[in-house]
Amino acid sequence: MTATAVDHIGSLVTNDPHAGRGPLGLIHDAAVVFDEGVVQWVGSHSRAPAADARHDLQGRAALPGFVDSHAHLVFCGDRAAEFAARMSGETYDAGGILATIAATRSATNAELAATTGRLVAEARRTGTTTIECKSGYGQTVADELRGLQVAAAFTTETTLLAAHLPPPEFAGRADEYVAMVCDWMIPVCAPHARWIDVFCEAGAFDADQCRAVLRAGIGAGLGARVHGNQLGPGPGVRLAVELGAASVDHVTHVTDADIDALAGGSTVATLLPGADFSTRGPYPDARRLRDAGVTLALATDCNPGTSYTTSMPFVVALAVRDLHLSPDEAVWSATAGGAAALRRTDIGVVEVGARADLIGLDAPSHLHLAYRPGVDLVHEVWKDGVLQ
Ligand code: NIG
Ligand code: FE
Repeated sequence: MTATAVDHIGSLVTNDPHAGRGPLGLIHDAAVVFDEGVVQWVGSHSRAPAADARHDLQGRAALPGFVDSHAHLVFCGDRAAEFAARMSGETYDAGGILATIAATRSATNAELAATTGRLVAEARRTGTTTIECKSGYGQTVADELRGLQVAAAFTTETTLLAAHLPPPEFAGRADEYVAMVCDWMIPVCAPHARWIDVFCEAGAFDADQCRAVLRAGIGAGLGARVHGNQLGPGPGVRLAVELGAASVDHVTHVTDADIDALAGGSTVATLLPGADFSTRGPYPDARRLRDAGVTLALATDCNPGTSYTTSMPFVVALAVRDLHLSPDEAVWSATAGGAAALRRTDIGVVEVGARADLIGLDAPSHLHLAYRPGVDLVHEVWKDGVLQ
């Protein structure tokens, strides 16, 4: 056992309201002591217990590592031209997913692992210590299985995005594709995943198709997540709440009934402003959701089509500027909110018993994440008590 103390933290976000000031549980002049990757003590620097090693943050701010609860990192191919066309007026219609499916199917396992590894490392450098990773660009049993196996080398938060878009061989036969997913893909892939996900949207899969896939996944022991209400109004949000999904993601086009359902349920609304930014779509009404009492998470949605960013600091800055969250709300949603969206209590918080996942910032407070957009403020990242 070798206890490490990170001390002289100018301002520490704990996300434990009992530990410090306000909902973020802010502690000034703080220290954190951890051992074997687990936090043992949090409090004022002057009262820190003895430790075997000391790491001086020299007054920098610190916060829990970011929890990016929505990312598509297993793919091959490049859609920069599609992005450029959108920036000159084209609208996003999800059709580009087929280009990534084709490129992903023809990639080798080593090529896929190289892309995923590069993106996970990129995310880590900007402070992400937990990242969810979806399959979904294979849409055959074999390709979804290898997508999950690639993802599992980098994270335990693996998601079978079984119903992303009907692949070309099932064009016009989405019901048959869904039957194949339920009868074959899910039984084969479920042991390699923690979550099941669907794209519930006009042009992708309808409510009945998504319900069938989610129920089959839940029956195979997976937790449910939903892509819903991204491109237009639809049944995704209510379906997610009906099935007790951990999260419904995007949540851009919602009705009062959708918001009431979310407020009365246990499903987190995960907002993905990077996707709205890169598709030039409208942003979700985060204030309305939040004021209704809905738990909000923020995530990157990193994928080659709609949001090719791994940067949670960028997402926090967008959430403050364009979703009208306060900096405190945005930082909470990018850490504790992401943990809630993954139904985890051991991350997204700095408290005794939590994973020792911490970011040290080259800034006096977490407010600078939004105040200084586009600037790399991440001085250091600790994951499971190890300096990265
Ligand atoms: O979350 N909405 C569905 N899936 C992705 C986009 C995938 C793509 O365009 O490749 C998303 O935005
Ligand atoms: Fe997504």
